[in-house]
Amino acid sequence: MTDLSRRTFLKKTSAGLTAATAAGLAASTSAQGAPHAGGSDKIRVGVVGTGGRGTGACMDIAEAHPSVEIYAMYDLFHDRVMESYKRLKTGEDRGSGVNFRRGIPKEQFNVTKDRIFSDWDGFDALLDSGIDVIILATPPGFRPYHTRKAVEKGIHLFIEKPVAVDPAGVRHFMESVEMAEKKGIYILTGTQRRHDPSWKDTIARIHEGAIGDIKGGSIYWMGSELWHRGSNPRWSDMEYQCRNWYYFNWLSGDHIVEQHLHNVDVMLWVMGTLPVSAYGMGGRGNRTDPKYGNIWDHFAVEYVFPDGQRWHSMSRQIPRGQGTSRVGEFVVGTKGTSDPKGFIHGEHAWEYTGKQVRSQLQEHVNFINDLRAGKYMNEGKQVAEATMGCILGRMSAYTGRQIKWDWAWNASQLDTFPEKLAWGDHPVPDVPIAGMETLV
Ligand SMILES: NC(=O)c1ccc[n+]([C@@H]2O[C@H](COP(=O)([O-])OP(=O)(O)OC[C@H]3O[C@@H](n4cnc5c(N)ncnc54)[C@H](O)[C@@H]3O)[C@@H](O)[C@H]2O)c1
Repeated sequence: MTDLSRRTFLKKTSAGLTAATAAGLAASTSAQGAPHAGGSDKIRVGVVGTGGRGTGACMDIAEAHPSVEIYAMYDLFHDRVMESYKRLKTGEDRGSGVNFRRGIPKEQFNVTKDRIFSDWDGFDALLDSGIDVIILATPPGFRPYHTRKAVEKGIHLFIEKPVAVDPAGVRHFMESVEMAEKKGIYILTGTQRRHDPSWKDTIARIHEGAIGDIKGGSIYWMGSELWHRGSNPRWSDMEYQCRNWYYFNWLSGDHIVEQHLHNVDVMLWVMGTLPVSAYGMGGRGNRTDPKYGNIWDHFAVEYVFPDGQRWHSMSRQIPRGQGTSRVGEFVVGTKGTSDPKGFIHGEHAWEYTGKQVRSQLQEHVNFINDLRAGKYMNEGKQVAEATMGCILGRMSAYTGRQIKWDWAWNASQLDTFPEKLAWGDHPVPDVPIAGMETLV
């Protein structure tokens, strides 16, 4: 059991972080800023949260450069960290999709038994294990807390999206991003479309006027249900929730935050500005069993931008085989339209035909190359904004009210993180009923 309370933590560290303190911190640790700049040393990586993405990200970062060594591993659950350890060591990844049977070359896998950690106190042990880069791939509810501690230790970060689940978490995260910048700590985030040349080229063309003036757009993550990891009479509330984290607001932020973030990020990238407000609706129709915790299964949100342009968002998770899926973005301009993953339609019709990359690998290639070259990278603010864009939509749908960005970013006190993290009872709020949720 350990006290991981963000509120306590905020009081102890971030609330008192004046510019002078931060500058002092920067001065005292700047030498750590880019330990591998131009060097040929090994880059030792520690992973936190060894599920599908944590395991996949280890493979990606190792594949990105031979100087990378997977050095330490931590998951809240011993069985999970051992499962990942075996997959990485033997190359047997039974997961689906891109990580299929890749594993890590022997010479890049240097995790000894004493550098495998679990339970609540395992995170501090991992931070002290001598790593240069940390991969944060736990449920996003933990992200602000883990990020702060890693930045304070002077460790460079690959942070999976989303980076928080509520406004208090986004602000806490943003303080860490600023601290990281002052200390020269690198931050790569899991918004891999930003590293994909097809998206980059298309959005650059949109910005150069290929579809005229942007008038609005649509974004979609209309997908199917995900996993559920069952229950066990031996598990406490807390264990059940952390194993089935997706279905609990305090851990995932709901699927609009956890999954739709990629599309919200593309919307903000295309627009180059932040929305003024969001107005949303939604509910839970298919996934009504209490085992699915307190998240919804569908949302529809309208985002309004400063000049009155409107973007419409739909996100949904329904059983596989029901309905059709659509994941992507659509932009409307005065001279054409675009699917920003590679198409311009209209007067300046164009299609991306360049190099295809696997963007989850490419982001790590860019990260390690920049780290080694001493070319500073910090994607923290951009992903914090995308995270807040999703939270704004969720808050609007839950409350039934239009919500302003400025209020959410600067003033909302919504903080869903538990006061204390420990095994045992952990009651959660009921499933939100649209219009009945209060604003905080
Ligand atoms: N960029 C992408 O395309 C992409 C794709 C998949 C997942 N993700 C993100 O990666 C993150 C993880 O998703 P996943 O699919 O790998 O989930 P997962 O459930 O497979 O893995 C999460 C792991 O974290 C562990 N965990 C839970 N609480 C922990 C804690 N406090 N400390 C340490 N470990 C803890 C769990 O036991 C589990 O093994 C999420 O934020 C998700 O949004 C991003």
